[in-house]
Amino acid sequence: MNDLTRRDFARTAGLATALGYSRILGANDRIGLGYIGLGNRGDQVHDAFLEHGDCQTVAVCDLRDDYMDFAVKKSRATPQKYKEYKQLLENKDVDAVVIATPDHWHALMFIDACNAGKDVYVEKPLSLTVVEGRKMVETADRTRRVTQVGTNRRSWKTYKEAAEFVRAGGIGHVTVARCFHIHNEWPNGLGPGADSPAPSDWEWDQWLGPAPKVPYNSNREYYNFRWFYNYSGGQLTNFGVHYIDVIRWCLGQDSPRSVTAIGGKYAGIHDNREIPDTLEVLWEFGGPTLVVFEQYNANAAPPNAKNSEMELRGTKGTLYISYENWEVVPEKVAGADEGYDLGKGYGNPLNRAGGELVSKSLKTDIEPKTVQGPHNYDTTSHARNFLDCIKSRGKCNADVLTGHLSTVPSLIGNIAHKTGSHLTWDGEVERFTNNPQANEFLQYEYRAPYKLG
Ligand SMILES: NC(=O)c1ccc[n+]([C@@H]2O[C@H](COP(=O)([O-])OP(=O)(O)OC[C@H]3O[C@@H](n4cnc5c(N)ncnc54)[C@H](O)[C@@H]3O)[C@@H](O)[C@H]2O)c1
Repeated sequence: MNDLTRRDFARTAGLATALGYSRILGANDRIGLGYIGLGNRGDQVHDAFLEHGDCQTVAVCDLRDDYMDFAVKKSRATPQKYKEYKQLLENKDVDAVVIATPDHWHALMFIDACNAGKDVYVEKPLSLTVVEGRKMVETADRTRRVTQVGTNRRSWKTYKEAAEFVRAGGIGHVTVARCFHIHNEWPNGLGPGADSPAPSDWEWDQWLGPAPKVPYNSNREYYNFRWFYNYSGGQLTNFGVHYIDVIRWCLGQDSPRSVTAIGGKYAGIHDNREIPDTLEVLWEFGGPTLVVFEQYNANAAPPNAKNSEMELRGTKGTLYISYENWEVVPEKVAGADEGYDLGKGYGNPLNRAGGELVSKSLKTDIEPKTVQGPHNYDTTSHARNFLDCIKSRGKCNADVLTGHLSTVPSLIGNIAHKTGSHLTWDGEVERFTNNPQANEFLQYEYRAPYKLG
C-alpha cells in the first residue's frame, strides 16, 4: 500500500463500514467496474474503460439480456449479470459503477451507489431535475465518493487550453456565447409511435422506474426517450449540457442569473414528440455574458461559416470550438487614443463621401490561432481520469458538482420554455426569484415506491 492509499485508508475506513463495502485499493490493484445501462452510450463508455489495463468489468446490469451478453463477450473477465441494479451494488468485487441509463434513473442509481460505498461515473445530464442534482452532490459529499460526470470534453487537453485561453482574456470580454444542435427530422421524425402492449420479455415498468406510469410506446424507449420530458429534456439537456459545460468553463462562471426560452413544434413533424423542433434559450451569466442555445431540428444547414458547436464572441476576437479544433479569429479594434468616427462620418448626410463605420487606425492586437482537437468523441481520457482519481481519491475533471452546475442551466431553460417566462435565478439557493409557479418544476413526484434519497 503506498502512502496515499494508507492515508486514504485511515480517512475512509470508518466511513466504509458505516456506508457499506468500500475496498481500499493498492497501486497495483485492478479496479472492479460494474456497468448499469449498456445501450448506446453504456457500450461506448465500456469500450473506453477497456482501453485501460488497470480496470476490469466485474458486473453488468441492463434490462436487455442481449446487451449484457454483448458486453460480457468483450470483457476481459467473466462479469456477473444482473437485471436489478440494487443486486449489482451488493457485489463486493464492484469498486465503482458506470451509470448510462436514461436520465430519469440517474439520481436514484447514483445515490444508491454512493450509499453502497461505490465510486460513480454517471452519464450527463447529471439529473432530470435540479433538486435531484443537488441531492446527488450532497450524497457524494457525505459519503466521500469519487465521482465523474460524462461531460467528456472536460478531459480533452485542447479544450482545457481553450478554456484557459479565454479565461486569461485571449479574446477580450466575452459578450456572447452561442451553441447549436442542428438536425433535420422533418417530415417523419420518430414515426407515428402508437401505444401498444409491451413486448412480453420487456420490463417496461422497470424502465419507467420513478416516472409516471404510461402505456408502452416504442418511441419512448432507447435513444428516443430524449424527446419526452418525463425521461429527459430534448437536445437542450443532451448536447446542450456538453456545450454549456464548456462555455461555463471558458467563462469561469457557476450559474446564470436569468433565463428565457421561446420555440415550439413549428415544422409539423409527424410523430408524438413532446420537445420543440425549434427552440432558442437565452441565459444571462455574470461577466456579463449572454449565452444562447439553438435547437434547430427541422433544418440541418451548418450553424455558421466555421460549422462549430460553439462560438464565443469577445471584444478582441471570436473563438469557434468544434470537436475537431478550436480557432480564434481576431477582431480589429481601435487604438487606445482613437475611437470610431460614429455619428460624424458614417450616418452624416453632409459627409457621405468620407464617412465610414470603421476608423483607419483599426488594428488587430491578438493573433489568429487554430488548435487541433481529438478528432473523435474521445472518452478514454475521461475514463482514465476517473480511474486515476479512484486511486488517488482526488477530484475528477467533471466531478458531480461540476456536472450539476453544467446541467442546471439546461433544466431551467426547459422550465422557462414550459412557463413561457423570463426567470431570474438565484444560483446559491437554486430557486427562481420572480415566479413561484416555476419553482414547482424543480422536482416532480416520484411514482411509488420510489423515493429520492
Ligand atoms: N457523454 C455523451 O457523449 C453521451 C452520449 C450518448 C448518451 N449519453 C447519455 O447516456 C445515457 C443513456 O443514453 P443512451 O443513448 O445510451 O440510451 P439507451 O436507451 O441506448 O441505453 C440505456 C440503457 O439503459 C437500460 N436501462 C433502462 N432502465 C434500466 C434499469 N432500470 N436498470 C438497468 N438498465 C436499464 C436500457 O435497457 C438501455 O439498454 C443518457 O443519460 C444520455 O444522455 C451521453
